[in-house]
Amino acid sequence: MKLLFFALAIAVLTACGAGSGEGLNEQGLPSTSSSGSSSSAADDGVTLAQLQQTIFGAICTNCHTGANAPRGLRLDSEENSYAFLVNRSADEIPTLMRVNPGNPDDSYLVKKLEGAADIVGARMPLGGPFLSQTQIDQVRSWIANGAPRIGSGAATTKVARASTQKTNNQITVELLFSRALQFESIAPESISIFYHTLSERQAVEDFSLLLNDQTLYLTLNNIPAQALQVEVIIHDRELQQLLDHQYQVVDGDADEIQGGGYRYVYAL
Ligand code: HEC
Repeated sequence: MKLLFFALAIAVLTACGAGSGEGLNEQGLPSTSSSGSSSSAADDGVTLAQLQQTIFGAICTNCHTGANAPRGLRLDSEENSYAFLVNRSADEIPTLMRVNPGNPDDSYLVKKLEGAADIVGARMPLGGPFLSQTQIDQVRSWIANGAPRIGSGAATTKVARASTQKTNNQITVELLFSRALQFESIAPESISIFYHTLSERQAVEDFSLLLNDQTLYLTLNNIPAQALQVEVIIHDRELQQLLDHQYQVVDGDADEIQGGGYRYVYAL
């Protein structure tokens, strides 16, 4: 798990052309993508949900279930498959990850499914019948696309969900991206935050960032009581763009083309 934590103060920004919250639905997603048809059509890769349904849940759970699952590898729910596979070292060869996002060849799961020469123990599923090449390629493709928790990773990288939590004068905004981000790309220049009162829009200068794979947490401090809304903007300046783990620019406006601004307005 890659963690990044730093506090920063952003420079006061000039007007960035952001309007007043139109064009966003209540999850903070651009409403242009809310029909769903355009994004799913372009996203023709394999999702963990599909693998869970057709492979992990259908075949592997004969054995890989519950607290006594072989090698502690539980594949009995989508959540468990993700938690026990992605970025978790293999029991049998601890120098290898079970799933190494972006690297199917270095993923012990793939080696076990293909019966590679360097595995410990048996080819999976134990005793066969083994997966078809098509099924193995689906697992490979999901891993090659970054082994995302949500979505296939085959399309552009977008904000998949945004939410906010408020405690006293601190606000935490959680942005879940459709695949992991490149933590080096997270910089003050890539994110601007404002709060709105009845009469003004002020830059939030006291905030910290925490990136955990696909989730970016923004903690905003010292938000005054009279603030009515917080506004989070990504890519408002051309200087620094957020990159995903494959160094592709994040698709902020969810139009299936890399780049473009993302804006999330939350009413306090
Ligand atoms: C009939 C029972 C059985 C089935 C079905 C089965 N496994 Fe296993 N699996 C085992 C046992 C037992 C081990 C440990 C011994 C070995 O590796 O040979 C194991 C080990 C593994 C390991 C190594 C874990 C580690 O960290 O070292 C992986 C990966 C794995 N299985 C994946 C799968 C997948 C994916 C499926 C479904 C496609 C599957 N297995 C189906 C019994 C099973």
